[in-house]
Amino acid sequence: MKKLSIVLILALALFGGETNESLGAKIYTKHGCYGCHGIDAGGSATYPKLAGKSAYYIRRRLHGYKKGTIHSGRSDIMRPFAQSLSDEEIKILAEYLKNLGHKKKSDEDRYYEEYEIGDSSGS
Ligand code: HEC
Repeated sequence: MKKLSIVLILALALFGGETNESLGAKIYTKHGCYGCHGIDAGGSATYPKLAGKSAYYIRRRLHGYKKGTIHSGRSDIMRPFAQSLSDEEIKILAEYLKNLGHKKKSDEDRYYEEYEIGDSSGS
């Protein structure tokens, strides 16, 4: 029991702050990007993978869709989503998606998943 509370305190300290990473995840969720590209941005048979692509590439593509300068077969699908993003949001998303591909799960992450500890108990 003592061990558990130590882990909880540690977890709260680690996940309490608003980092660019959690901000990136929020923007990704808020705009419904996961609906096509997947919750882990891993893509599918019909939609491209985003996780792990270079931030520069992702920014270029999103600005291109936003301005309407990309005319690929399915760019019309992306345009309204890109247009709903501010330039600042594009920057944060690009960093977030780049890092997703390389992120190794920490022990804390695995602990969270295994025991399904949410943040509802926090103050
Ligand atoms: C309705 C489905 C759908 C949603 C929702 C969606 N996308 Fe896309 N996305 C696509 C399709 C289709 C393409 C491929 C378009 C093309 O052919 O250029 C694409 C392409 C992309 C690309 C370029 C990938 C590459 O490898 O060239 C990026 C980056 C991207 N989307 C980011 C996002 C982000 C960020 C969001 C949320 C704001 C989002 N998408 C929401 C369907 C979607």
